[in-house]
Amino acid sequence: MTDSAEGETWLPDPPSYPQEWMSNNVLPNGKHIVVRPIHPEDEQLYKCFMDKCTAEDIRHRFFDSMRDLPSELVTQLTHIDYLHIMAFVAVNDENGELLAISRFVAAPEGNRAEFSVITRSDWQGQGVGFLLMQVLIKYAQAKNICVMWGQINSDNSQMVRMSRELGFQITTDHSDPCCVVATLQLLSPAKSSP
Ligand SMILES: CC(C)(COP(=O)(O)OP(=O)(O)OC[C@H]1O[C@@H](n2cnc3c(N)ncnc32)[C@H](O)[C@@H]1OP(=O)(O)O)[C@@H](O)C(=O)NCCC(=O)NCCS
Repeated sequence: MTDSAEGETWLPDPPSYPQEWMSNNVLPNGKHIVVRPIHPEDEQLYKCFMDKCTAEDIRHRFFDSMRDLPSELVTQLTHIDYLHIMAFVAVNDENGELLAISRFVAAPEGNRAEFSVITRSDWQGQGVGFLLMQVLIKYAQAKNICVMWGQINSDNSQMVRMSRELGFQITTDHSDPCCVVATLQLLSPAKSSP
């Protein structure tokens, strides 16, 4: 927190950007991508990203068929605290375009976090979503989150398959017959050591 002199507007310190979670990656097909925590400037890249996502993919991610995300929502999605809310983006190393986003939002008590992920429709099937989920899980473990969970449309077989591959258990969603719930029990490094 920043002390303010009399008469000045008090502003909280901006959340510190976890630069150390940035990595360069080569996909199995040889393409180069950068994975990094989202930052506020990514707001500009969002529209282009959404324009390249099919209505079906948007529905699977947002449980809504909206074509254009309201700008307030984009601001909210890109301005995060890197603690209770975390998001990673995959960026095309060649042109800086946004290719995929994984995210979690932790409950106030901090030990359960809800995840989501979306890969640009023309970049799917190349290992980007899987990689972003792996990084998100590692980050959640580092922040001592015990359980990661997410709601998935029952017709989203791709996400159900990928979740299983990542170790999530898939169960019935008792609150919504159109969905299933994917749950992953995480052990923090401290708890997993003998
Ligand atoms: C679901 C979604 C995120 C997957 O993203 P993607 O980038 O296409 O996924 P990937 O290419 O990384 O993974 C695809 C496949 O490779 C597998 N895979 C990828 N990398 C792997 C690895 N290193 N080891 C093992 N398996 C791997 C995945 O399990 C999956 O298996 P499949 O071919 O049998 O389906 C994408 O389809 C999407 O954005 N859908 C719309 C939004 C959505 O449904 N979001 C989920 C809401 S929570």
